[in-house]
Amino acid sequence: MASISISIFLTLVFTLITLAHSDSSPPSLTSTEQHSVYTILASINPRIDWHSLYPDDADLCDSGPHGLVCDLFTDPKTNRPSLHVTELALGFVSDSSPNPPCSPNASLSATFLAPLKYLKKLFLYRCFTHTPVWLPNVTNMLSPRLEELVLIENSALFGSFGSFGGFKRLRKLVLIGSGVSGGIGDWVGELVEMEQMRISRNRLDGVVSGEIGQLRRLRVLDLSFNFFDGTVPESIGGLSKLLKLDLGSNRFVGRIPESFVGLTNLMFMDLSHNRFSANCGIPLFLAEMQSLKEVYLSGNPLGGQIPEIWENLGGILGIGFSGMGLAGNIPGSMGVFLRNLSYLSLENNRLEGGVPEEFGMLSELNELNLESNLLSGRLPFSASLWAKIGGKLKVSKNNELCVDEGTVVMSSTGSNKFRRRSLGDLKVCSNKSDDEISPSPVVLSSCSTSVLQECSLWRDYQLTKVGE
Ligand SMILES: *[C@@H]1O[C@H](CO)[C@@H](O)[C@H](O)[C@H]1NC(C)=O
Ligand SMILES: *[C@@H]1O[C@H](CO)[C@@H](O)[C@H](O)[C@H]1NC(C)=O
Ligand SMILES: *[C@@H]1O[C@H](CO)[C@@H](O)[C@H](O)[C@H]1NC(C)=O
Ligand SMILES: *[C@@H]1O[C@H](CO)[C@@H](O)[C@H](O)[C@H]1NC(C)=O
Repeated sequence: MASISISIFLTLVFTLITLAHSDSSPPSLTSTEQHSVYTILASINPRIDWHSLYPDDADLCDSGPHGLVCDLFTDPKTNRPSLHVTELALGFVSDSSPNPPCSPNASLSATFLAPLKYLKKLFLYRCFTHTPVWLPNVTNMLSPRLEELVLIENSALFGSFGSFGGFKRLRKLVLIGSGVSGGIGDWVGELVEMEQMRISRNRLDGVVSGEIGQLRRLRVLDLSFNFFDGTVPESIGGLSKLLKLDLGSNRFVGRIPESFVGLTNLMFMDLSHNRFSANCGIPLFLAEMQSLKEVYLSGNPLGGQIPEIWENLGGILGIGFSGMGLAGNIPGSMGVFLRNLSYLSLENNRLEGGVPEEFGMLSELNELNLESNLLSGRLPFSASLWAKIGGKLKVSKNNELCVDEGTVVMSSTGSNKFRRRSLGDLKVCSNKSDDEISPSPVVLSSCSTSVLQECSLWRDYQLTKVGE
């Protein structure tokens, strides 16, 4: 009795499973989207016969081009599963990323992409490089589900950036190397999921909206090589997750906001080649940005002296302070605290005095540029450092710098040509002047007790001069 009911039960279950299975044909890409993909492929490269490469009767999701990704969704009306395009990558990158190649006359129209209503990621690499293409109105072109938009090296892509305000799920917005113009308006505050915003080497301009401070998840903000102007929004200082901030080569003016001190995780800060001038020198709050590994302020007329802010910045690997109108001495504390320093550029300022003895301890140094200053005295670098970084130790066009004869001889084991190039117009230090108590500031860094008084007199004199 029991065994009969069990076998009836099993038969029932089996029948149900079979029925359910035969009822659902494998999900496929909707014909609208399939058609849309062929249209897009034809528009980015009319030279390729896409229909014979990827025949119509096969599902593009199954056997389509690299760069096309579909996902399974359940249709809310029919409750049946269906496939939709979620990722599209166009433009051949490499053999490991062989996206459909774009031809020189590639084009793109909003109507081609609009049917892809489930698109989450769009990637276009070197697609529009010859024939000018105007960026379609993105609001009409792309799905509000979009999470990543990456457009790299599309130099013939023009038109206005418009508003991305509708894309509330956008996590990554990358627009690098295009002719696209426009600005960053208040709409930017709506992109609360944004983690990475890299808008570099385009023609964007205007004032950046303070609403950018709403992007609390932002880790990378790169607006470099555009034409942005006005002051930098204070609100950027509230983006405490920021790891990289690059505002270099724009037309920003005024102060570097003091609020930046709140960027406690920031590792990379490039503000170089703008018109920041209102901070009265290098901002002292840098002293508190202890995660910094690289800081570039070159080309901003900030003036003043290099401050003593280095004690807690031992993680710094790179500093660019060239062409800033810096005066006074190079503080020896840089050599004491910045033990991992690999790159230091101070060229084209009005720095005077000697190169601190402490710089001789910078064992990780790979490049040092002190060219075109008013430096004098003996260079404190060992023969092994000269040998190691040779031509990247740039010290020419200074007043009275000299190098110890031993150092020169030992470092010139290579060709004469190399030696001459790396040393520039450098003199060999004469032994005589080392013994003299001359008012040469180099004496400062190697002060003995007997000359301390002279040194402080000299220092006072220097300070008065700077204060003038
Ligand atoms: C692009 O160039 C090909 C030939 O190289 C041509 O057949 C095609 O019509 C052109 N497409 C456009 C949109 O100009
Ligand atoms: C883009 O399209 C949207 C929706 O149709 C419209 O509101 C907006 O004004 C358009 N933007 C531009 C720059 O044409
Ligand atoms: C300097 O570099 C070493 C090796 O990479 C690292 O262990 C050390 O923490 C760094 N120093 C500072 C102060 O960050
Ligand atoms: C400087 O002194 C060293 C020895 O201390 C000597 O070898 C060198 O020739 C001297 N150089 C000059 C330019 O007098």
